[in-house]
Amino acid sequence: MRREIRAEPYRIKMVEPMTLPSRERRVARMVEAGYNPFSLRSRDVYIDLLTDSGTGAMSDLQWAALLSGDESYAGSDSFYRLEQAVQAVMGFRHVIPTHQGRGAENVLLSTLMPEGGKLVPNNMHFDTTKAHVLHKRGEPVDLPVPVAYSPSVRQDFKGNMDSEALESLLSRRRADVPLIIMTLTCNSGGGQPVSMANLREVSQIAGRYGVPFFLDACRFAENAYFIKEREPGYAACSIGQIVREMMSYADGCTMSAKKDALVNIGGFLATNDPALYRQATVWAVLFEGFPTYGGLAGRDMEAMAQGLYEVIDEEYLADRIGQVAYLAERVRLAGAPIVEPPGGHAVYIDAGALLPHLKPYEFPGWAMSVALYIEGGVRAVEIGTVLAGRKAGTGEHDHPRLELLRLAVPRRVYTHRHMDAVGDAVAAVVEKKRQLPGLFFTYEAPVLRHFTARFGTLQEWPG
Ligand SMILES: Cc1ncc(COP(=O)(O)O)c(C=O)c1O
Repeated sequence: MRREIRAEPYRIKMVEPMTLPSRERRVARMVEAGYNPFSLRSRDVYIDLLTDSGTGAMSDLQWAALLSGDESYAGSDSFYRLEQAVQAVMGFRHVIPTHQGRGAENVLLSTLMPEGGKLVPNNMHFDTTKAHVLHKRGEPVDLPVPVAYSPSVRQDFKGNMDSEALESLLSRRRADVPLIIMTLTCNSGGGQPVSMANLREVSQIAGRYGVPFFLDACRFAENAYFIKEREPGYAACSIGQIVREMMSYADGCTMSAKKDALVNIGGFLATNDPALYRQATVWAVLFEGFPTYGGLAGRDMEAMAQGLYEVIDEEYLADRIGQVAYLAERVRLAGAPIVEPPGGHAVYIDAGALLPHLKPYEFPGWAMSVALYIEGGVRAVEIGTVLAGRKAGTGEHDHPRLELLRLAVPRRVYTHRHMDAVGDAVAAVVEKKRQLPGLFFTYEAPVLRHFTARFGTLQEWPG
């Protein structure tokens, strides 16, 4: 029987020209950038897989929605359209727009942990969440299931929280835990999904101990798609039904709309708790703006509202997750080991395993990011020692368990042929893997060093 080919479920109405700079130019740009891909200008990048955050393409209906933006300071129609979209798609009653996800984290944590010294459990904190907990003088506690740290083991829901570890923590330290957060999908763990069963279980534990339970919902629709595909009992449900059930287990969520609301900027805090909402609006006014605009233009809220309806479309999600899986297959064929199975928004190459001749303090993930740009003009991001920074007490590198290179795929931006080009670039890096040198810092900022660092190479870069 003839196989039915499913191509991208959209056609392209507008194009943005780009080009692959010559190898000579790529080497020169990388040297000028101090071997730091963050310091490259985007015009020198061919395929940009630095992040999937705020880099997606909006639909024609989202662009059209911009024109109906109501730019009133207070009570704009655009806010009410956003509120309605969050109520319809997620089921939360109260909504506070914020300039992006970390704005929502700041408002939520300012509300729930005003006086510091508290423990915040999460399946795995994303950097901004961790930074906000630390900023509030709290302690972020990662409680992933143990298999999250085994990159080659294929399991369906490696983003789950270790519910026994959570129960044990609460039984000993309930008074020190102001909230529980679950990150969907689990970005720091490889974009791995959380199962409905795990959400239900964590929600029950939170309920038993009377602890507020919030979702970091950045990639909620991708998580829902994995539940439909992998979890018994959900194959016949629509994505909309699955999303509403997921959200029903939580007291609210923080959201970076730059991911699964399909916009380039924006976020929100949503909750069902009217008292928490009232308290949060106080902080929102201070940090973000009046509670009906929260640092956003009316037109931004219009595009977000439309994006929330579009992202739960199953055909869109099948294409999105399918494209990441396609890239994963190309990377495997190129001979690079990846975190298995691939997650929803990115492929994570196990650079530590690919480049065993480089010690963690020679930054294998970073060396691979430099090589990928030089070989194919592809920009990706290290998730390893450089990103992790130094330990507060000793000043030593805070080596993570894995040295990874993340290839994050922007939404609706690149085609499968672009993914083929990335696969070829990875193959070219794999061919030279034994010659790739380690790196050392020539400049290192005291915080968030990866953004501005400069490096030297321990040997000459291979030609
Ligand atoms: C899981 C997760 N939480 C929070 C954030 C922060 O969102 P934003 O960049 O919009 O502040 C991100 C962004 O990448 C994320 O991936």
